[in-house]
Amino acid sequence: MPVSPEVRILPTSGDLFHAAAVEFAAWANAAVNARGRFTVALSGGSTPRGMFSLLASGAIPNIPWDKICFFWGDERHVPPDSPESNYRMADDAMLSKVPVRQENIFRIPAEGKDANEVASAYEQTIQEFFGLKTGAFPRFDLVLLGMGPDGHTASLFPGSSALQENKRIFVANWVEKMGDFRFTLTYPAINRASEIAFLVTGADKSATLKRVFEDNRADLPVLGIKPEGGQLIWFVDQQAANQL
Ligand code: 6PG
Repeated sequence: MPVSPEVRILPTSGDLFHAAAVEFAAWANAAVNARGRFTVALSGGSTPRGMFSLLASGAIPNIPWDKICFFWGDERHVPPDSPESNYRMADDAMLSKVPVRQENIFRIPAEGKDANEVASAYEQTIQEFFGLKTGAFPRFDLVLLGMGPDGHTASLFPGSSALQENKRIFVANWVEKMGDFRFTLTYPAINRASEIAFLVTGADKSATLKRVFEDNRADLPVLGIKPEGGQLIWFVDQQAANQL
């Protein structure tokens, strides 16, 4: 592992969602107090749903919803109403239930047929939002990430071309095993975040997590997550940590 990340092992996935949601609220309030807004790139897949639902439930107080700007770290090449859509998961579980400002929700237009045009459009959205010159990278306050059993994160999959991308902020990444493009932030765009938080649950991730923490030469995309000045924290439940 690169810089010594913080690893929090929680007894159950429910405990993990609560711990991550408490930190989310703390990071959000710190960013809003410091800069008037909180910029977060949400992760996809299934794991974050539990955290998103908890945040939407009101169980965690004082979340500055109207000052949070939501992006996505990655998306599938599907329309927003697809069951596969990471946007739809976050909207169903959280965004449709809390007082966020619609103008602060920056959805990846993943319904577009031309994947490279989709990626360029979203990259431009990020550049305009952060006021970036060409070649500069955003600093998200928080990037949430998951991990697949193959060690992928966001849509940075083993053997995919995006793993080598160090100029672009956001790309369309052909994923052979999916037979389609996925859309993803690149390593430089993720690694500049102030906070990077992995949420990993379940026994099916335990063997990979052991490799991540015990072999930093392993060919696992998650090992390319190396914060540049920010913090890296792993929220792991006991099942996923059972081989550590
Ligand atoms: C996606 C995700 C992806 C996810 C991992 C873990 O679009 O699928 O962004 O990187 O975080 O695949 O997914 P689970 O949480 O469903 O195990």
